[in-house]
This record gives sequence, structure tokens and C-alpha cells, in this order.
Amino acid sequence: MRDQWNSKLGFMLAAIGSAVGLGNIWRFPYIAAQNGGGSFLIPYFFAILTAGIPILILEYTIGKTWRGGAPVALARINRKFEWLGWVQAMVAFMISVYYFAIVVWVLVYLGGSFTLAWEGDTSGYLYGTVLGLTGSPFELGGIQTQLILPFLIAWAAAALVLYRGIQKGIELACKICMPLLLVLMTIIVIRGITLPGAADGLEYFFKPDWSALADPNAWVQAYGQVFFSLSICFAIMIGYSSYLPKETDVVNTAFITATTNHGFEIFAGIGVFSIIGHMALAQGVPVDDVANAGVNLAFLVFPEAILTLPGMNSFFGVLFFASLLVAGFTSLISILQAVISSIQDKFTASHTKSVTIVLVPAFIISFLFITGAGLYLLDIFDAFANNIGVAGAGLLEVILITWFYDPEKIRLEANAHSNFAVGKWWTWSLKVVTVAALGFTFILNFYDYLTHGYGVGEGGYTYGQQFACGWAPFILFVVIAVILTGLKGREGYKDLQQVAMKEVE
Ligand code: ALA
Repeated sequence: MRDQWNSKLGFMLAAIGSAVGLGNIWRFPYIAAQNGGGSFLIPYFFAILTAGIPILILEYTIGKTWRGGAPVALARINRKFEWLGWVQAMVAFMISVYYFAIVVWVLVYLGGSFTLAWEGDTSGYLYGTVLGLTGSPFELGGIQTQLILPFLIAWAAAALVLYRGIQKGIELACKICMPLLLVLMTIIVIRGITLPGAADGLEYFFKPDWSALADPNAWVQAYGQVFFSLSICFAIMIGYSSYLPKETDVVNTAFITATTNHGFEIFAGIGVFSIIGHMALAQGVPVDDVANAGVNLAFLVFPEAILTLPGMNSFFGVLFFASLLVAGFTSLISILQAVISSIQDKFTASHTKSVTIVLVPAFIISFLFITGAGLYLLDIFDAFANNIGVAGAGLLEVILITWFYDPEKIRLEANAHSNFAVGKWWTWSLKVVTVAALGFTFILNFYDYLTHGYGVGEGGYTYGQQFACGWAPFILFVVIAVILTGLKGREGYKDLQQVAMKEVE
């Protein structure tokens, strides 16, 4: 028998656990800051309403109706769609290998918080002590021994949960982690907004810069962020919802997941920017000068900000990194589970074997990210995996379902067991608005990556580095996806009825 969630609440917590992750606390604040601050909220909400929620409803419905990891579920809808499921699973794989590294840094900072280990030299601590950062993505500089223990701890914990399976592993972990995360983050936000200077930080976070809206990059980043944050378009939510009973009210569940996730994202942003605002005041510098640190916001600016708190600095350091850890861990397991379900549902492999098939290569590749070049590799992987991989896979998913399949069938299926029925707006918003808005911005951004590249410029990456660390792995993963599509799966896997009968036998 295929595993199932123990209860709807268990599924909700797992789905929220997947959605709420490093994307909410580590990624969202700096993406918003880089793309116009307050005005980023416009493409962001636009992307949530026209794509995020509709796609979440779509993926929940696909998963619970066609009951399989993304490749198998899509193959059951139409045999010609399977490849897209594998591309999504490979994008998930690509994300999982660098996601580990961030969890590892978080573990180091969590340990360091007890003594405020970065005090006196925040950037020396990050780039030297923690990362052992080299000069470029091509200079690996060896595996950083200080990261090996936290790396093994993170891996052991993830493997333990994944081997235990859906109910006893993932569901249980999320039932413990999610309430804990809410408590931790609430304390941080209350501390943040009651600090002097918080208003300046919040003004920076919410103040619009309208000119940023003219940049297609801000729009594609908004879609990329929403997809990443909701865990959609890279095989996770289709896989997770495939363990739901068919009678589940997916519309209601999707709204709750999305509202909680994005609410939490903004809530965490308020906490982070209030504390940064306080730091700017304490140091007598404008917020702009300290907040725009990109991927380093959580590891450079925030630790520095913790030092400027009026008291209980260690305590708040522990709280912040513990919340990142809890959020990141429940997402990490969902990203790996997306690949595991994909393998398990297509091939005749047991749960244990499927977990091993996915974890072993991920374990080996993830070592790259704890070398001295880890931060560069991660930055490039993250940009390609999200802005090309997730955004592109999302666009293709919507095009295939709404233009090459009958989306009305899916809408009726979604409504069949839902208290609140989705109207035709759902179909049109996906078929027209998402395809047009995401398609346009994706193509412009793709062209920009091809012609100008990512992170090029003074002190940035060379074309060769981007090709080797961005395009090449991405292309390799797509090739693997094509190979996996071509492999013979277990008999009748594309046929839901046949497989269901065999499972009962
Ligand atoms: N949804 C997960 C996150 O936001 C992947 O980190």
C-alpha cells in the first residue's frame, strides 16, 4: 500500500512546513530589498494571486487525483507530460544540494550564538571562520573541516526522517517543528518592532521604489520567489498531495497554505527589518547602507544587528538561528521527498531503496557547497535553479495543463470535494494572465541571462564561471530528466486504475 498522511492536519502542517522555509526568512527579505523594497510587494502579490494560489490548487488537485510523484501524476494526465515532471524533480534535486549548505551554516551560527562568536569581526567570522571563502567559484579550496560535523548532523537528521516515511517521519517532524517555529518567530518580531529605529527598517522594507517595477527582472524574481516559497512547480506539492485521500478539500487547503506561508514571510520580514533598522540607528548609518547584502543578509547583517540589541543578545541569536533551522529543515525534507516520490512511483523500488537512490548522489554533490567556494556555487545554483528552473518549469506546467489539456476537468475535480468552489477565474488567470505575465518576463530574463549573464560585472562572475556552475549543471539535470523519462518504469505506471488494483492485491 502507498503511504498516506495520518490526518488532514498532518498534511497541512507538512505542506506549510515545506512552504515556510529558508525562502521566507533568508531569501525573501533580500529579494524584496534588491527589487524595489515596498514596490516589490506589487509584483509579489500579483504573482501570488494570479499564479501562486491557482497553481497550488492545480498541484494539490493533480496530486490527490492522479496519485503519484510529479512525473507519474503528469504521465497519468497525458503520457506526453511525464518529462516535465522529471525536469521539476531534477530542479528539486538541484535545490536540495545547496539547501543543505545553508542549513549547515545555520547550524554553525546557532552554535556560535551561545557565545556570540562573531563579535568583533562579523564578516571575518562569516567569510573566514565559517566559509573559508576562496577568491572565485573555480577555487574550491578544499572541504572546510569546521563544516563537516554540522554537515553530517544535517544529513543524518534528514535521512532519519526520510527513511521513516510520510507518517512516522515527515508528518511527525512537522507536527513538532511548526508550532515551535511560530513561537520563536513571534518572540523575534515582538522584540523587533519594540526597538528604537524599527520604524526606519520597516520604512525601508515597505517604501516603494516605483522605478523598480519597470524592470522585468523584478517581476520574474517575484514569480520565482512565490514559486520557491510556496514549494510549487518543482515537484514538491504534487508529490505531497499524492498521499492525500481523494475526498480532501483542496481549495480550502491551498488557501490556508498560501495565506499562512506568505503571511509568515511578511511577518518574518517585519522582524528582520525592524532589527536591522535598530542596528542602523545604533550605528548612525542609513538603513540602505546596511540592508542590501543579498544572500548574506541573514549571515552578515543580522548577526551584526543581534550585537546591537540592548540585551539578551545570545538569546535572540539562538532564537533567530533556531527558527531558520526549523524552517529550513522541514523544507529540505520536502524537497528531497519530491525526488523520492518521483523515483518510487515510477520504478519498482521500495521506499528504502528509493530514499537511498536519491540521498547518496545528493550527499556526494552537496560536499561541493561546504568547500571554500560554496557560497559562490550556491549563489549561482540558486539563481539558475529558481529564475530559470522553477520559473521555467512553472510556465511549462501551466502551458501544458491549460493549453494542451482541459483545465476545466481539473477545476471540476478540485471543486468536487471543496466547500468553496473555484470559479472560471481560476482557468483564465492561469491560461491567460500567468502565461502572458510569466511568459513575457521569463523570456526577457532568460535572454538577459544568455546575453548579459548573472552577477557579471566588477567583482562578479565571469561567463565561464557562470556557464560551468549555472548553465552546465542545469543542462545536465535536464538531460538526466530526459533519460529518466525514457526509462521503462514498472508495468502500467501510467495507468492509475491498473496500479491502484495492484496495490490492493
Ligand atoms: N518553500 C521552501 C522555502 O521557502 C523551499 O524555503
